[in-house]
Amino acid sequence: MPEKGQRTVVVTGGSRGIGRAICLALADAGTHVYFNYFNPADPEGEAAAASETEALLAAANAGASSQSVNVASEDEIKVFIDSIMNESGRIDVWVNNAGITRDSLLVRMKTKAWDDVIDVNLKGTFLCSRAVAKIMMKQREGRIINIASIVGVTGNPGQSNYVASKAGIIGLTKAAAKELAPRNVTVNAVAPGFIETDMTQDLPQNVKDAFMAQIPLGRSGQPEDVAAAVAFLASDAASYLTGQVIHVSGGMYI
Ligand code: NAI
Repeated sequence: MPEKGQRTVVVTGGSRGIGRAICLALADAGTHVYFNYFNPADPEGEAAAASETEALLAAANAGASSQSVNVASEDEIKVFIDSIMNESGRIDVWVNNAGITRDSLLVRMKTKAWDDVIDVNLKGTFLCSRAVAKIMMKQREGRIINIASIVGVTGNPGQSNYVASKAGIIGLTKAAAKELAPRNVTVNAVAPGFIETDMTQDLPQNVKDAFMAQIPLGRSGQPEDVAAAVAFLASDAASYLTGQVIHVSGGMYI
């Protein structure tokens, strides 16, 4: 439960990887961080990772609460947001970070792989944004930050579902930014390049090498690199920025 006057921040997919780094980058004594996670293939492992994130948030003196919530489920998102609003009464920053990949070449892609990725990445971002936009418009204040991807701009073979979801997120960011600006709610996206997380660790070495060869700064990114851009977008310093896509890719996209 947040203390009176604390800033309320929500991060989807905060149990590990980029989401955890975002939670920590937004954490301080004046902030309560809510995050969710979801992994039907390994519920215990994901809950354990979430407990670790909570412990790290507590060590940073921030408030922390987490629960398993599937962003692709309209009902679960409603319950999640209602519970946050009952406790805190407001949402200052919402980060749509939860995402999955189900890679395959277009001609071999199963419809389920398409649906799963679109449901979590794009529909999840839509469901959360729609619900939280209503709250922030009433507050006449708020920040929505969407985690897209460099491939949503450049394309990438073997990821037509994921690329479509991330390109969709960029379009959603721009439309929502125009709609919500009159109520002082900003909507921006961060497009990471090649970041070292569970999502990228199992890629074949030749794919990793091909990515590395395209990075002018000559190294892969860390979750903290992405989190720093999110922290900026959530800060007072970014109050005049909306509808933008900030690439955090070591120059992979220029
Ligand atoms: P990850 O696989 O390490 O972590 C994914 C997180 O999302 C976990 O906390 C997981 O519990 C959560 N999640 C997955 N499905 C969910 C669902 N249905 N509902 C709620 N939570 C769910 O991934 P990583 O690498 O940290 O990626 C985070 C975001 O950054 C994703 O949107 C990803 O597409 C994006 N991204 C990552 C890049 C990379 O190189 N790692 C590059 C570009 C974008």
